[in-house]
Parts: sequence; structure tokens; C-alpha cells
Amino acid sequence: MHQEIKKYLEKNKDRFVDELIELLKIPSVSADPKFNHEVLKTAEAVEQRLKEAGADLTEICLTKGHPIVYGEKIINPDLPTILVYGHYDVQPADPIALWDSPPFEPVIKTTPIHPEGAIFARGACDDKGQMYMHVKAFEAMIQTGTLPCNVKFMIEGEEEVGSENLETFVKENKERLKADVILISDTGIIANDIPSITTGLRGLSYVEVEVTGPNRDLHSGLYGGGVPNPINVLAKMIASLHDEHKHITIEGFYDNVEELWAEERAEMAKAPFNEEEFKQSIGLKDVEGEAGYTTPERLSIRPTLDVNGIWGGYTGEGAKTVIPSKAYAKISMRLVPHQSSDEITKKFTEHFLKIAPKSVDVKVTPHHGGEPYVTPINFPGYVAAAKAMEDTFGKKPVPVRSGGSIPIVALFEKELGLKSVLMGFGLDSDAIHSPNEHFGLFNYFKGIETIPLFYKYFTEINK
Ligand code: BES
Ligand code: MN
Ligand code: MN
Repeated sequence: MHQEIKKYLEKNKDRFVDELIELLKIPSVSADPKFNHEVLKTAEAVEQRLKEAGADLTEICLTKGHPIVYGEKIINPDLPTILVYGHYDVQPADPIALWDSPPFEPVIKTTPIHPEGAIFARGACDDKGQMYMHVKAFEAMIQTGTLPCNVKFMIEGEEEVGSENLETFVKENKERLKADVILISDTGIIANDIPSITTGLRGLSYVEVEVTGPNRDLHSGLYGGGVPNPINVLAKMIASLHDEHKHITIEGFYDNVEELWAEERAEMAKAPFNEEEFKQSIGLKDVEGEAGYTTPERLSIRPTLDVNGIWGGYTGEGAKTVIPSKAYAKISMRLVPHQSSDEITKKFTEHFLKIAPKSVDVKVTPHHGGEPYVTPINFPGYVAAAKAMEDTFGKKPVPVRSGGSIPIVALFEKELGLKSVLMGFGLDSDAIHSPNEHFGLFNYFKGIETIPLFYKYFTEINK
């Protein structure tokens, strides 16, 4: 079976790339209503591609927000069913000035890490490129007569903004979404010669804070020194959220945090990681983080608190002597197993209001969040993915917990009772969410080649 898939892929490589490039040209930015029409156009394109690839039934499921594309091919109800999840929406391209080529005009260039070439465009890796690997792998299985089981596709357009409407869709479509496993390519591997499978995702709690001092902006000479400056106050409040060991100071923040056994940490430490290369790759002189944990641990099994944006006062040209009335910040907290997004948001809010000096008013507004997720490495989905990757990479994949979040994955488990296999093919250096996002052609083809093997092994294990 595998030889047939490889031959089919070899023959159709150029077209597979061209088709992805067409999809990447549509700016499906879910966060900005300005792009609503393009988001819809992308959904229609994805539905069309699923149909062409061989789905028997496809549907654009409208929601209160962006639509969900559904597709299926049921060959025999007695065989296992794989539910493929992905997202066709992308992050905003800003800051556009920092892109070397326009974000929605894909180009192929080589890089030291991608000598075979990579497609540069917003969404190339996250997640249009990775989602499209599944459509092409499906096509390849249909065309070579090797599809071994049933498949359902659920491709959403709101992952980058919190998947709120997918949550409703999942709750209302449990029967239609019945499956044996969920397969997702929206994560990465350690390196092109070090395959890995993601076994955990962090959860997320996200808040916006507003600090109000005087009821209007004031002359900083006439009033300065005698009134609270909300930016100074906010900066101090934020600084106090970590102690000198970089522990988060919010009461109860670590209450339910899962502490890993020494054996498990030792096992994790076996995954290749080079701190010098890590620093160099992002232009850092030194790393920083919670005392008592290694960099890979800080990036995956420990919870965090980070300011994502902070603003207020005068930021235009030249100097303006002013004490602003208001200051703002957006703050994210990444969560690990057994922390709950709602509880952490509540604890943050209580703490933040408590530490505010009497001289200011503080408002905390919660945004979307999500729960953390872990998978065991002995369930059939993981075993099948590991075998598939071992075949195509020639090496056993390493299990790794990721620091990123895909909030809907925990919800799938809760609502559908299904585990997800996080078999992604991106690299950390692919600059997802950043200017010059790209996806290696090696990775794109490797994904298309590996996915059919997952189908094969998963079906064999579950027969
Ligand atoms: N695909 C990413 C998450 C990811 C990337 C996980 C790489 C592991 C490795 C996803 O699209 C994403 O960006 N998620 C957001 C959360 C969402 C609520 C905006 C994140 O992690 O910030
Ligand atoms: Mn993604
Ligand atoms: Mn993303």
C-alpha cells in the first residue's frame, strides 16, 4: 500500500503544492471582521477540495461566527472511523512591514533548515498547510484504492479566536461526529530528522486589565508627583505577579498543578534539546524562567503568566508631558494538567483587584480560555501514529509535551469521549503567528506520506 501512495505522491507533488498555494492566497483571518468574506470563501474552497478528493458528503455548517466544513466517506460502518480536525483560519498578518514577501502571496524559498524549499505565507504551517496534507492523503488513498476505514473531516474557521462556535457544534452533533479517534496535524516535530508526537497541550486563561487613575489626562508637571499614574501603577502590579524565583504570586495558582515524578522528568529530559541553539534561534543572550526547572520543562509542563500587550498614555512622535487617565494590558496564562481555566481566571481577578492601590480603579475582563490536555502513549491512536512515523522517518518518534494550546482538544474528550492524536509536522522555527511564516515542502510531503500509514495501522489495531 505504501509504495502506491508514494508513487501517487511523487506523480502529483507539483499539483499538491499549487493547490495549497491557491488556498493560502485567500486571507482567512478570523479575528478581523474585515476578512469575513474571505473566511467564507476559504470554507467554500475547502469544501470543494474535499468533494474533489472523494468525500461522499460535504457540508458548510453555518454558525454564529465562521462556518465549519464537514465532510465524510463511510465505506463500511463496521470499520473504524477517523475524525480529522483542522482549521482553515489564520492569525492576522501584522506587522506586515516585517514580512519579506506579502503574507497572502505565497512564494517558495529555501532556508538552511529547509534546503528543499518552504512555502512562505500566513497559514502555511498553522494550519492550512497541515490541514491540507489530510485532504491530499485522503485523495491519495481514494485514488490508489487503499482507504482502509471510514473518515470524517471537521475543519473549522475559528481556532485562532477560541473555537466558541465549534464547541456548540460539537455538543449538538455528537451522533454525526461518532468516531474512534481524532487525528490532528496542528503541532510540530522536533526537527526534520527527529520525529516526535505531541502528548500534551497547555490550557489557557486570558484576561484584559484596565487601570483608571484621574478622570482625564493631566499635565505631568502640574499634577505629577501628587496623583497615581495608572501606567506606573499597572507596571508595578504586573511586576509583582512573579517573585524573584519567577514563581507566580497569585494565591492558589499552583494548587492543582500536576507535579511530575522524577522518573517522568528524566524520561522527558531524553528528548533532544540544545539550549545554545535555542538561544541563538531567537537572538537571546540568556534564558529566563522558573527556578528549579529546565528550559524544556518551563516551556511545557509548567504554567506561565505573560503580558501580551500593554498600552496607555502618549506613544506618538516626540514628547508629550502627560499623566494618562488609563492604562491597559492583555495577559495570558498557560495552564497545565489539573488547572482549570475558569478557576485560574477567577483567582487572577481576585488577586489583581486585591493588590490594586486604593488610588486607582481596576477592571478585569476575561477572554476565551481552554483546558490543558494530555494523552497516554499506550492508546491505539498513539501507537498507530508512532508506527506510521517510524516507517516514514526511519526512526521512532519521541513523545513531547507542547507549550502551545488547542483548547478544543480537551473539549473533544469531554463531549465526544475521544482522544486526539497530535501528529503534526511543523517546526518551531516555521514562525507560526510571526512574520515570514513558512512550511517546509519536506514536511508537507512527509505528512501526506505518513497519514495513510496512520489509517492503516489504526485500522489494523482496531479490527
Ligand atoms: N496550532 C496552534 C497551537 C500549537 C502550535 C500547539 C504548535 C503546539 C505546537 C494553534 O493554532 C494556536 O495558535 N493556538 C493558540 C490558542 C488559541 C486559543 C488562540 C495558542 O496556543 O496561542
Ligand atoms: Mn493551529
Ligand atoms: Mn495558531
